[in-house]
Amino acid sequence: MSADQPVPAARSFRSLWRLRSYLAPYKGQLLVMGVAALFTVFAELAVPLVSARVIDGPVARGETSGLWALGALAIAFGIGEAVFGFVRRWVQSFCMLDMETQLRNDLYAHLQRLPVAYHDRAQTGQLVTRATSDLTTIRRFLGFGVIFLIVNVMLFAVVTVLLFRLYWPLGLVVALSAIPVVLMTMSFEREYIVASRQCQDLEGDVATVVEESAVGIRIIKALGRRRQIGARFLREARRLRTASLGKVRILAKFWSILDLVPQVLLGVVLLFGALAVSRGDLSLGSLVAFVALVVMLAWPIEAMGWILAIGQESATAADRLYDVFDTEPAVQDTPGARDLAEVRGLLRFEEVSFRFPGSNQNVLSNVDLTIEPGETVALVGATGSGKTALTALVPRLYDVTSGRITIDGVDIRDVTLSSLRRVVATAFEDPTLFSASVRENLALGRIDATDAEIAEAIDIAQAGFVYELPWGLATRIGEQGLSLSGGQRQRLALARAVLGRPRVLVLDDPLSALDVYTEGLVEEALRHVLATTTALVVAHRPSTVLLADRVALLSGGRITAVGTHTELLDTVPAYRQILSAEADFDDDLELPVGASR
Ligand SMILES: Nc1ncnc2c1ncn2[C@@H]1O[C@H](COP(=O)(O)OP(=O)(O)OP(=O)(O)O)[C@@H](O)[C@H]1O
Ligand SMILES: [Mg+2]
Repeated sequence: MSADQPVPAARSFRSLWRLRSYLAPYKGQLLVMGVAALFTVFAELAVPLVSARVIDGPVARGETSGLWALGALAIAFGIGEAVFGFVRRWVQSFCMLDMETQLRNDLYAHLQRLPVAYHDRAQTGQLVTRATSDLTTIRRFLGFGVIFLIVNVMLFAVVTVLLFRLYWPLGLVVALSAIPVVLMTMSFEREYIVASRQCQDLEGDVATVVEESAVGIRIIKALGRRRQIGARFLREARRLRTASLGKVRILAKFWSILDLVPQVLLGVVLLFGALAVSRGDLSLGSLVAFVALVVMLAWPIEAMGWILAIGQESATAADRLYDVFDTEPAVQDTPGARDLAEVRGLLRFEEVSFRFPGSNQNVLSNVDLTIEPGETVALVGATGSGKTALTALVPRLYDVTSGRITIDGVDIRDVTLSSLRRVVATAFEDPTLFSASVRENLALGRIDATDAEIAEAIDIAQAGFVYELPWGLATRIGEQGLSLSGGQRQRLALARAVLGRPRVLVLDDPLSALDVYTEGLVEEALRHVLATTTALVVAHRPSTVLLADRVALLSGGRITAVGTHTELLDTVPAYRQILSAEADFDDDLELPVGASR
């Protein structure tokens, strides 16, 4: 989904057509808008016809008697035009904004359903522009463009018929003028669709760079890479500028020709009309009406360019939306999935192999591991050995490539995701906090958690510092709030995981950012939770390993040894090596801080 793949125009228009289901609920309103738009246009049309009557009647005959009625009629049409214009805009504004909101909600919900693998690849900026500017483009076109496309074509047809009736030779000239307009429009469409898709994709790319540099500002500054990142941004921005200029050039050419057509038409009509009047083929009033009607065509013809341009852009936007909508959530409830009710917590990996979607290399191969109810297994392995990948399989952030994972003997793919994720709680290496209060961040997975449960979780994670924050648990943290230290964030993430005492706990290196003292306190508290919970804990430090009943060594995507810490230390050199490398600062491997066994 970057700016480099051309998209066939037909596909874009198909995508736009698919959006009709979003308009379906507003059939009534659309009808009102269409009728109001038609009335506006026809009220406008009536004025030149009334003028013709005035000139050929009262003016030509020099009598004022009929003048008042015709004048009143012209004013009535004027007022009618204003009223109908208001009605159309009013109806349009609320129902189209509703539609846009609905579409945005669906997009958001779909993005949430898409698997982690999709978000691994998708650029955030592209998703953001889809949810914002693309949707606005679509709203503009569906709410305004489509209606005027129809109304303008009708107007053109009606005016041409009127012109034929007034004086057919000139009517024919006007009708023929549609041919160059149609031909030009077709060639414009072909060129413009490529340019507009490119611009919209590049906008997403620019947004991605901005987003990345905002998120990574610390590292950029610390490494002194401001210039390089700035240069990268400039490069993207320049590409966008060049593409936008190209787009504007196509538009400018098209619009100026569209502007020219009515002007030329007017000149021709005036010239031949005057000749016809002098020969007595046409009345003066009819000529005035004729000219006024041709002038009226100028706007619809010119507006056509604008409408087609936004039509094109919204077709592209629709295509970009369906890029997302058409991505099926790979991880989803299977038909007939049932709720995972009360479980004992027997977690078993059976011949599990896994490779990341889109990759052709197995990260895990034939992993077999059983964790008894209430047991804690530490997962130890060199960096990049697949520990995080293994933990991500349990809450089904990814699905296994082959083999299966069971809880109490039930394949986790046969239970509903929501019930699975109620049973399995997780804390990851990089604790993510949301722009919300501490309490909301903690209760994210269990909105119904009581104050006592929250206090207990805070206690276990040794996250008592939250009470010291300016507004205690109500303090806003995360991107828009107070910044927390790495260790503080980690303890909050841990508290979030242990909240409500889940049956199965998966912790990916939860204590890595803590100082030895705090780590000891957390471990001491965690020990109580782990006593009754089935847990898989990724560990780098010997002290964390000592929390576990058994240790599994992951190496090259396989479990190469399972046993107690002491057994593995004695019998598996690779294990000794990993732990001693990780624990350079621990003098005594057997007796780390806080360990009581
Ligand atoms: N989203 C991804 N897509 C493709 N490959 C990935 C993805 N995430 C990780 N990998 C690869 O999978 C392998 C295992 O990664 P994983 O994160 O599970 O390692 P780890 O054991 O947790 O390492 P660490 O101890 O550093 O956290 C690595 O080779 C990594 O490059
Ligand atoms: Mg990892």
